[in-house]
Amino acid sequence: MKRIAIVPGSFDPITVGHMDIIKRAVTIFDQVIVLVVINADKHPSFTTEERVDMIRRSIAGQGLDTVQVDSYQGLLVDYAKQAGACAIVKGLRAVSDFEYEFQMALINKELNMDVETVFLSTSSENLYLSSSVVKQIASFGGDIARFVPSEICSEILERLQSAAPLHRVAAPLGKDE
Ligand code: PNS
Repeated sequence: MKRIAIVPGSFDPITVGHMDIIKRAVTIFDQVIVLVVINADKHPSFTTEERVDMIRRSIAGQGLDTVQVDSYQGLLVDYAKQAGACAIVKGLRAVSDFEYEFQMALINKELNMDVETVFLSTSSENLYLSSSVVKQIASFGGDIARFVPSEICSEILERLQSAAPLHRVAAPLGKDE
């Protein structure tokens, strides 16, 4: 039987840290589904379609033939059941990730005991990396080239630089907004 794993996340946008987790999941499972989860409470910078497309472009030509990309709104365990997945793969950066991820793993196990959560420790060079950090650097025109796949770097910069709020070096006294 095929061992299918899901790598879920917001991927807003995908980073080299996510890519590292996906590549390592590929070495463990027969098939890997990278799942862009739609969260109605969040306001992503990129649409679901854009995020799926950015992931597809990032994995293309990398020999990741067992990887599929999909999007979904709902409970992860329901998607896992429907896809026949036996595992959810999450990357763990620091202790600060652990409490939330551990809670999610326990809840998901409670909801569907046939699906295991597998934690992969993030490679040390990506310990500090997150989509939020990438977006903040990009919004101020900083260099994000080593944080995101090269295929999507300029797209992220173009989108986020134009969205960056104007900022003053010094605001007139009493007129700060
Ligand atoms: O990249 P993120 O934002 O940390 O990913 C979080 C994600 C999408 C994995 C998580 O929010 C999730 O699993 N959402 C689906 C809803 C769900 O199944 N929640 C668990 C039970 S409360």
